[in-house]
Amino acid sequence: MPVGPQTDLAPGYDYRPMAERPYVFVNMAMTADGKIDTVERQGARISGTHDSRRVDQLRAGSDAVMVGGRTLLAEDPGLTVRDPDLVASRERDGRPSQPMKVGVASRLAAPGDGSLAPDGDFLGAGGGRVVLCTSRLTDDPAITALERHGAEVLVAGKRRVDLGAALAHLAGLGVGRLMVEGGSTLVAALLAGDLVDELQLAVAPLIFGGTTAPTPVGGQGWSSANARHLSLQETSTDPDGDVILRYLVVGAGA
Ligand SMILES: NC(=O)c1ccc[n+]([C@@H]2O[C@H](COP(=O)([O-])OP(=O)(O)OC[C@H]3O[C@@H](n4cnc5c(N)ncnc54)[C@H](OP(=O)(O)O)[C@@H]3O)[C@@H](O)[C@H]2O)c1
Repeated sequence: MPVGPQTDLAPGYDYRPMAERPYVFVNMAMTADGKIDTVERQGARISGTHDSRRVDQLRAGSDAVMVGGRTLLAEDPGLTVRDPDLVASRERDGRPSQPMKVGVASRLAAPGDGSLAPDGDFLGAGGGRVVLCTSRLTDDPAITALERHGAEVLVAGKRRVDLGAALAHLAGLGVGRLMVEGGSTLVAALLAGDLVDELQLAVAPLIFGGTTAPTPVGGQGWSSANARHLSLQETSTDPDGDVILRYLVVGAGA
């Protein structure tokens, strides 16, 4: 039974102490008015086909791809590398065909029980390793059922996932480069914990509006004195009119 980041390891689990945590970069698409979805919150498509190719390349260059619980449970994302050439290139480099998928959810049920679909994209697509990070709100039968469907389950945190422990665990599994694909609550929590190194945003020529439509960073927010500071590294545009911004996270109140 999983009990913590380093004590729940089954025999033969390839735990390797490595860096304290992986290099963490966030990639998200937002509209020109700063929204990452519409008020309906059904996972609206935002950036164009050229950007999908860029996202595929980012996934291919990552050891693992992470999403937050609401994105995971509402959208069942596949998080796979789609281009066969990129998959082949990973294999040539001796890496797994697909990056590890990581979901962060406070409470998980058994697959199909109003939770992840047993034959859905997150658990099934691509055949890559699947790690679910959850809190003690997830009960043992749900953990056993998830494990039966091929997921490895890490329990870290009482009511919410202890993100520092989750990242340390991923480092121990050999994840050196972690791509975080949202949503806004997870990204806010990672930034609050000073656990993000880089932020990439694709700004699409669209406006969704709506006060309650989510933005890249939700959570409680910070006073201006504690704002997270970024250092712009690169800007580019693509033929769909998306603007790609790449920042390094400098820190708080810098
Ligand atoms: N445009 C894009 O690039 C993009 C990418 C991804 C998602 N999205 C959009 O983002 C929206 C979802 O974002 P969201 O903010 O509602 O949810 P989210 O970030 O996907 O998931 C957050 C949830 O994860 C759980 N969690 C567990 N431990 C946590 C921790 N330590 N810190 C933070 N969260 C933790 C919490 O569940 P509990 O509340 O149950 O505790 C929390 O509500 C959707 O509309 C989706 O379409 C857009």
